[in-house]
Amino acid sequence: MDKLLIQGGARLDGEIRISGAKNSGLPILAATLLAEGPMHICNLPHLNDITTMLALLRCMGVDITIDEKMCVETNTEPMREFTAPYELVKTMRASILVLGPMLARFGEANVSFPGGCAIGSRPVDIHLRGLEAMGATVEVDQGYIRARCDGRLKGAHFFMDTVTVGGTENLVMAAALAEGRTVLENAAREPEVVDLCLCLEAMGAKISGIGTATLTIDGVETLKGCTYKVMPDRIETGTYLVAAAATGGRVKLKDTRADILESVILKLEEAGAEITCGDDWIALDMKGKRPKSVNLKTAPYPAFPTDMQAQFTAMNAIAEGVGTVTETIFENRLIQVHELNRMGANIALEGNTAMITGVKQLKAAPVMATDLRASASLVIAGLVAEGDTLVDRIYHIDRGYECIEEKLQLLGANIRRVPG
Ligand code: UD1
Repeated sequence: MDKLLIQGGARLDGEIRISGAKNSGLPILAATLLAEGPMHICNLPHLNDITTMLALLRCMGVDITIDEKMCVETNTEPMREFTAPYELVKTMRASILVLGPMLARFGEANVSFPGGCAIGSRPVDIHLRGLEAMGATVEVDQGYIRARCDGRLKGAHFFMDTVTVGGTENLVMAAALAEGRTVLENAAREPEVVDLCLCLEAMGAKISGIGTATLTIDGVETLKGCTYKVMPDRIETGTYLVAAAATGGRVKLKDTRADILESVILKLEEAGAEITCGDDWIALDMKGKRPKSVNLKTAPYPAFPTDMQAQFTAMNAIAEGVGTVTETIFENRLIQVHELNRMGANIALEGNTAMITGVKQLKAAPVMATDLRASASLVIAGLVAEGDTLVDRIYHIDRGYECIEEKLQLLGANIRRVPG
């Protein structure tokens, strides 16, 4: 198993390009199941999770061609199989996103029940209840969710009692082909949900309230193929901004958007960063200063994203002052704290809050990645630590960061991948 070896101390300085968003590429690939006619999806990031979703579509019979720029063409014409098998679902929970579209288009879907994961139990009850409200019968049998509907799904008024990104995406996709009007209340407003809705609109779906907590979908009989470019990855963008801030550095990130990162930019400014933005770039300059600690609390968009919490915990670890980080979305998402403390951080955990007293210097240590964003925080810690940090289990990082070591090298970091 590969590891990342990081020699800390280099101040990040340079320009890189941000990749397409994993979390919008995944639902958009699932949405290709709804299309009669070929779909062309561009700007997909080259990541293991995207490869898993393509493998899932392929094993259901979807014809897929990929060019060297990760533009994917899909054609559902040859599709005969309506099962998402355990072997693929167990490696990626987002596989559940094929449930809604497959059921809406073919009247049948069997998806292996996704389990919990390191960051929490992650149920899918709202996905299932929403589909039942649209007239589906859903049962769980031998570890599989088996959903059926006679004819088309029926539009419904459905209130989601928790804001769920994947749940909203599954139900919007299902509603797009349902008979009549569906109203989804307390819907997630994350930019990736918006990106999916815009793609569905380009396919002929009728959706209003995009970007708000109430989505109204007037179902249509068929959806057509289209060409769609996936939005930039706001979490990758935020991760490089925090990495630069932690090292006192200066970066310019291109092919990205500042308007979807407001809460993160605000916290970086509070930490002492100077930030400038254009239409498709963001630049951060820390002017060699040590960051100041920030307090933050995760919550659904537009509030502070749970996917950026671990990176800020790492920055707070070396910041001036005391900062608190509170996680409200997932029950076990402060796991990076133990590894950071092994590197000399001073972090106390109380329930879902980490109280972080900044230290002047972290010390390198061998550390282990436990989930995607926790592993990004260990890389950031390695960049600012004294000595050589070896990060193990980096398959977690490869799920969400395209060429992380190459991008960091371009910014002047001493980092390389070593065989395990
Ligand atoms: C998505 C993102 C993930 C991000 C998360 C929250 C993808 C592929 N992943 O995950 O990176 O961290 O949003 O922004 O886009 N819940 C229920 N019942 C359900 C569904 C969810 O109780 O049926 C709960 C979850 O346990 C969690 C909360 O709702 O506590 C939010 O989860 P959700 O928004 O669904 O996360 P994902 O879509 O899995």
